[in-house]
Amino acid sequence: MSQLIHGGDIVTASAQYGVPVDDWIDLSTGINPCSYPLPSLGEHCFQQLPYQTDAFKDAVTAYYGVTDFLACNGSQHVIECLPGFLPSHPVLLPDLGYQEHRDSWQKKSAECCFYSADDYDQSVSVIEQRLAEGKPFHLVVINPNNPTGLSFSAEKLMYWAEQMPEGGYLIIDEAFIDLKPEQSLLSDYDAFTRLNNLWVLRSFGKFFGLAGVRLGFLFGPSDLLKTISGHLGPWAVNGPAQAIAVSALNDSSWQQTARMRIQQNSDAMLELFKPLFHKVFSRGEDLIETDISKMGNAGLFNSGWIESSLANQLYDFFAQRGVLVRVIDGNDLAPQRAGYSLLRLGIVDKNDAAVTEKLQQVISEYILTLD
Ligand SMILES: Cc1ncc(COP(=O)(O)O)c(C=O)c1O
Repeated sequence: MSQLIHGGDIVTASAQYGVPVDDWIDLSTGINPCSYPLPSLGEHCFQQLPYQTDAFKDAVTAYYGVTDFLACNGSQHVIECLPGFLPSHPVLLPDLGYQEHRDSWQKKSAECCFYSADDYDQSVSVIEQRLAEGKPFHLVVINPNNPTGLSFSAEKLMYWAEQMPEGGYLIIDEAFIDLKPEQSLLSDYDAFTRLNNLWVLRSFGKFFGLAGVRLGFLFGPSDLLKTISGHLGPWAVNGPAQAIAVSALNDSSWQQTARMRIQQNSDAMLELFKPLFHKVFSRGEDLIETDISKMGNAGLFNSGWIESSLANQLYDFFAQRGVLVRVIDGNDLAPQRAGYSLLRLGIVDKNDAAVTEKLQQVISEYILTLD
């Protein structure tokens, strides 16, 4: 079991701050608050063993554009097991990112090296230097990165895949790519299938706002895909999850509207928090990030660096009032981040007046404490 801290843990926050579970505004995840409307589910979804139906396979192929895939109980499932199926080479990872990647490689005793997750030039330089050395290694890229929002173009990633030394794999976690599907490495089917050292992970729960369904996908070289699939067993995705996915993945009109709506909610969220960001980013002497326009953004979340003491105080202030934010301590990551934390905020539905009014109120109260 992973001991890492994740967003969305309202149960623990509730016990800690005495706010009932149903009363929280959860800004600690990157999950679409306007989730896909659940279809009515036939009893057979629950009664029969969940062999993958043609309807499910067709929906997955239609949405992701690739016929060969492994469906699993959330991409977390394959993040945990993938290192066990790849040759034991060193792995180059983002120094800040969904930390389950690092954790699962470390559990396999892999030698882990890091590139910067919020400095594009530095990360490109470290990765390309490593490629130039020509020694086998695996490269993990979270695109766009959660929590920093750093992203690379599909062309750049394809180029890196082509340059990977023999025996090394490029693993791209596209959990947050659904807002810009044209940037996914799966969008160029021919190029993707031509390369046999490329893995792409996709997550269903974030864009469709249904994280509890637990559904994810792995795309990659078909022989290894089969081996991993055999390891996961025949019923890696439950019946209700498959039925929901058939509806959601085929519903291109909902998807199109959702993309617009997420962007609008993200913009509204930035607007709402702007007065607070102006205050917290303009404190301290040696700020890493001072400019709101440079904040990390992946549609479903915004993030920026602030002093750790301020971040912890903000977290506490908001949590006492039933608003859960995410604070990621930079201390363990890199020397230049010591004393700083990344504040990451998910989005809310801007049309939910009760939620936005409450947020507005908590933000105003918090700003008063800074003056
Ligand atoms: C970047 C990234 N990848 C993968 C996951 C795992 O998501 P899931 O298991 O729901 O597909 C997460 C969850 O937050 C994530 O942030």
